[in-house]
Amino acid sequence: MQRRVRPSRALRGTIVPPGDKSVSHRAAILNAIASGQAIVENFQRGADCLATLRCLRLLGVDWTWRDEATLQIAGRGRNGLREPAAVLDCRNSGTTMRLLSGLLAAQPFFSVLTGDISLRGRPMGRVIEPLRQMGAHIDGRSSDSLAPLAIRGGGLRGIRYCLPVASAQVKSALLLAGLYAEDETVVQEPMPTRDHTERMLRIMGAEIEFGEGSVRVSRQTGELTPISLRIPGDISAAAAWLVLAALHPDAEVRISGVSVNPTRTGVLDALHMMGADIHLEEERTWGPEPVADIVVRSSRLRGAVIGGDLIPRTIDELPLLALAGCLAEGETVIREATELRTKESDRIGTTAAELRRLGAEVEERADGLAVCGPQRLRGSTVSSHGDHRLAMMLGVAGALAQGETVIRNVGAVAVSYPWFWRDLETLAGQ
Ligand code: S3P
Repeated sequence: MQRRVRPSRALRGTIVPPGDKSVSHRAAILNAIASGQAIVENFQRGADCLATLRCLRLLGVDWTWRDEATLQIAGRGRNGLREPAAVLDCRNSGTTMRLLSGLLAAQPFFSVLTGDISLRGRPMGRVIEPLRQMGAHIDGRSSDSLAPLAIRGGGLRGIRYCLPVASAQVKSALLLAGLYAEDETVVQEPMPTRDHTERMLRIMGAEIEFGEGSVRVSRQTGELTPISLRIPGDISAAAAWLVLAALHPDAEVRISGVSVNPTRTGVLDALHMMGADIHLEEERTWGPEPVADIVVRSSRLRGAVIGGDLIPRTIDELPLLALAGCLAEGETVIREATELRTKESDRIGTTAAELRRLGAEVEERADGLAVCGPQRLRGSTVSSHGDHRLAMMLGVAGALAQGETVIRNVGAVAVSYPWFWRDLETLAGQ
C-alpha cells in the first residue's frame, strides 16, 4: 500500500494519540498473572499489543473487549498460566518477545516464541544470557542469539545483573523472571530506561524498589493485585505532531492526555533544546503514570547534539529528531545511538537513506547521524521499510516537503498507530 502526502496547510486542532504501547503491553502481561479482574481503558489496539493479547490467550488467559478500547482481563494468578498448545507468535513486537521470554522462563512448562522476519533478525542473546544465569533452559537460533526461542521454564534463582545495553525490555524480562526466582533479583542499568513495569508492579503489591539506576525485586509469595487503569497517550506517537507543528510555519496543535513519565520525555527535552515552543497543560496522573496535554506552536528550531542518557529516553523518536535536524538552523548530531540499528529496521541506515531520497544531505555514522540545516526537502518516492516509526516520520516529512511525496508500505503504522494517516489528513488537510 502506498500513500501520497502533500505540503500541509495551516495546522490547528487537537489530537488524541493512541494509548501508550509500552504501558499497554505491561498492563496485559502483569494483569494476566494477577489474581482477579482488571479493566484497562484506552488499551492500544495496534498490531504489537494485539500480538501480546493473542499470546496470552494461548497461555490460558481470558480477556474480552468491553468496548472499542476497554479491555477486561481475567488474571490467572501467580501460577495459573498453562502450557501453550501452539507456538507463540510475537509478530513484529520486540516487547512481546522479550517480556514474555522472562515470564515464560519462570513457568513450569515448555513454550516457543517466534515472530516475523524483522523480529527474527533482532538480538535475543541479551535476554537469553541473563535468564540462563538465573537457571532458565532457553535456546535460540543462530547460537542462541535469535528467535525462535524454545523455553523450558522453572526453577530460577535471583541474580544481580548489570545490563550491557540500556534496554527496558531486557530489564522488564528479568523483573518478570525475578518475581518467581529464589532470593532477590537486582538489575542495574547503565542509563535510566522506561520504568512502567516497576511503577505498575509497585501498585500491584510486588516487593520492588527502584531508582538511581537499579531495580530490586523479590520473589512474589502472595498474589499480585490486579491493576485497573486508563492507559495514557503514547508520547512516541505524539512526537510526530510535536515535530510537524514545531517545524511548520503556521501551527498550533494540542495533543491531549499524553504520558509525561520522565523516562519517556527525552523528545520534549531534545525539542526544547532545539528551541521548540512546547508546553505542558493540565498535568495529572492516570494510575501509575503522569499525564499532560502538550501544546506545540510553530518554532524556529536550531540544531542540537542528542546523545548520552537522552538516547534511551528518546530512542523511538530519533528518526523524527533527525528530520527536525534537517530543517533546523545549524548542525544536529545524534550520537551514542547504535541501538537504533537493532530496531524494527536499522533505523540509522533507513532514516539516512529515506531522508536522502527527499533531497537531504545526511551523514550516516556508526552510532548515529549528523545533518546540517536548514535544508530543503523535495517530495519524492520513499519507503517505510516495513517500520512503523519510519512510516510516520516520512508522513511528517512529506507534509513539510515541497511537492508531492509518495510513501510505500504505509500499512506499517498499524503496529502502533493504526489511524495515523487519518489523523494526518485531519490535521494537515491531506
Ligand atoms: C520498549 C523499550 C525500547 C523501545 C521499544 C519499547 C519497551 O526497546 O525501543 O519500542 O516497551 O520496553 P529496548 O528495550 O530494546 O530499548
